[in-house]
Amino acid sequence: MLRVNDVVTYRAEGYANSETVGTVEDCTLFVPLLIVGETARVRVNYVKKNVAYADVLEILHASPLRVSPPCSHFGKCGGCSLAHLAYDEQLVFKRGKVAANLKKIAKLDVDVLPCVPSPLTVGYRNKLSLPVRGRRGAVRVGMFERNSHRVVETNDCALAGSWARTLVSAFTEYCNASGAEPYDERDFSGVIRHLTARYVDGQLLVTIVSNGEYPYDLQPFERELARLFPRFGLFVNFNTAKNNVILGKKTEHVCGIEYIEGEHLGVKFRLRPNSFFQVNDGVKDLVYSKVKELLDTSRTEVLVDCFSGIGILTNVLASQRYDAYAIEIEPSAVRDAEDMARLNAAKRLTNVCGDVTVELPKIVAANLGKRFSVVVDPPRKGLNEDIVAALKRASPHQIVYVSCDSATLARDAAMLSDDYALTYVQPYDMFPQTDSVETLALLTRRIMLA
Ligand SMILES: C[S@@+](CC[C@H](N)C(=O)[O-])C[C@H]1O[C@@H](n2cnc3c(N)ncnc32)[C@H](O)[C@@H]1O
Repeated sequence: MLRVNDVVTYRAEGYANSETVGTVEDCTLFVPLLIVGETARVRVNYVKKNVAYADVLEILHASPLRVSPPCSHFGKCGGCSLAHLAYDEQLVFKRGKVAANLKKIAKLDVDVLPCVPSPLTVGYRNKLSLPVRGRRGAVRVGMFERNSHRVVETNDCALAGSWARTLVSAFTEYCNASGAEPYDERDFSGVIRHLTARYVDGQLLVTIVSNGEYPYDLQPFERELARLFPRFGLFVNFNTAKNNVILGKKTEHVCGIEYIEGEHLGVKFRLRPNSFFQVNDGVKDLVYSKVKELLDTSRTEVLVDCFSGIGILTNVLASQRYDAYAIEIEPSAVRDAEDMARLNAAKRLTNVCGDVTVELPKIVAANLGKRFSVVVDPPRKGLNEDIVAALKRASPHQIVYVSCDSATLARDAAMLSDDYALTYVQPYDMFPQTDSVETLALLTRRIMLA
């Protein structure tokens, strides 16, 4: 039987998410940062009954698929878990993960297409969300270490572009020069909790998350931002909650631009700092274009885009031939969506600010008997029974499901499976170097109505 601190030789036999799994002394052992087929000396750090976890001390036999990770913080920082695996193999891993979840959770043996690669495998993230810790004069801005709340300074994170390095260095210098006190989550003291930022089409929105009133002079940071980024906007968000939620409800604009403006896939958009936006611009465009291609709207009378964010996809799909509804819970995203509807003169589009669980049944009831097309793009927790019931009531001949968690996609496909068959499953590598995968799925009604 294994015990904590035992050092054993381990062979990685398979994957369980991004960790490898094998058996040592009748214990099922999970070890991160290895590749199936590798052998390593590992130290056990946790045991419960016959399940144990361990960390690698030394790789004894390395896989030919092992590569040098593109980031010096790999292994310590909890941000990436697959950066040691050759990129093509990351794609194989992700396809396998989606197929395994569909099989295990939904008992669906469907054909999962090869994962579409990201145009950029590093420097692809348009968003940063970094905890600020340390102490006055020695502030650390970075990512949490794996399985911990200690911050690794990562001003050269490989996933974000060079804009992120420039920003994090300038912000750290500003904090140290102004004597700013970073947040301490042990006793909820200190001021600066997080630095969040978004950089799209050369425009930067920066938000400092403050544990209550913001007491420091922002002008030195404003001057530095103006020197480094031609188009930037600075905001302070106030969050005194004693939990891990990053943003509080109130955000104040300090200076610079109030939103990012752009045009993607022929849709003009505005993006405010608190609205959701897909993190990888290149893959986002591939997914949205495929949704348009897949969705047969030739007989659609009502289109509903559930969990619509700022609504670029809704605008890509909207048409003068049918009514379109976009349902989104975050008020700032709905404000962006309303601006976008005006900018694109989308006349038959209604933006609904509310919970899909409440609003979808209302839209379905008001349009019962019409031909629906529905897109759902929920957060990780997926759908729920009320949403599934409303979908069945609307009875669209196709449901497009964009998922960032194939486990909940599988659960929801199983809930819909009496009425809908999963006819298309396409993973996309929205998040290279990590074990997360975006999946575009098409559910087709089993009985075609006249
Ligand atoms: C994965 S994002 C997708 C956004 C959009 N489809 C896109 O591609 O940018 C999920 C969105 O659902 C919103 N959301 C989360 N829970 C919701 C709910 N219960 N009802 C409506 N919107 C919700 C979030 O604010 C977020 O904008």
